[in-house]
Amino acid sequence: MLLLPFGGSERFISLLDQCLQQGSEQKITEALRQCLSGLIQDADIQLPSCVYESTPEHYSRREIYRSPDLGYSVIAMTWGPGQGTPLHDHSGMWCVEGVWSGNLEVVQFDLLKSQQNLFYFSEVGVLQAGPGSTGSLIPPHEYHIIRNVSQSETAVSVHIYQNQMMQCSVFRDLGNNCYERTERVLCLD
Ligand SMILES: [Fe+2]
Repeated sequence: MLLLPFGGSERFISLLDQCLQQGSEQKITEALRQCLSGLIQDADIQLPSCVYESTPEHYSRREIYRSPDLGYSVIAMTWGPGQGTPLHDHSGMWCVEGVWSGNLEVVQFDLLKSQQNLFYFSEVGVLQAGPGSTGSLIPPHEYHIIRNVSQSETAVSVHIYQNQMMQCSVFRDLGNNCYERTERVLCLD
């Protein structure tokens, strides 16, 4: 179901659908990563113009496509200068994400242990991702922070989720690698 019309959407969807025919999560996400890299550099694919408009209060999430047959969901996110996420998970889903324009910083974490609502993480890497750069998250490696560290430029990224992601866990830093978990309902703009 195309939720926001855009140029080249038929080919965009057909190429993503083909990637979903791979067998394992690893193969699907690797195929999607390569595919998304190509689509970002493809001048015939023109995302809807609204995805270039940031929202002052928070980064924006706009669902542009949801596959009725394969279940995956494509969200465009728009990051104004300085906007970002807290540390969060992906509700146990795989996800492939790519930077469409601008630059994003991605901080990756591994879960060390958890005890009730307290989670212990170690930071395992920081990536500076520019246009065309893609990455994937496969549970249990599904914890990260994304932010636009630019003071002047807006960034746009595209995220392909295994299913619709309506909520996730977010983690508040209590110090000493310890974080408190809360559930967050994710809104669409
Ligand atoms: Fe994420």
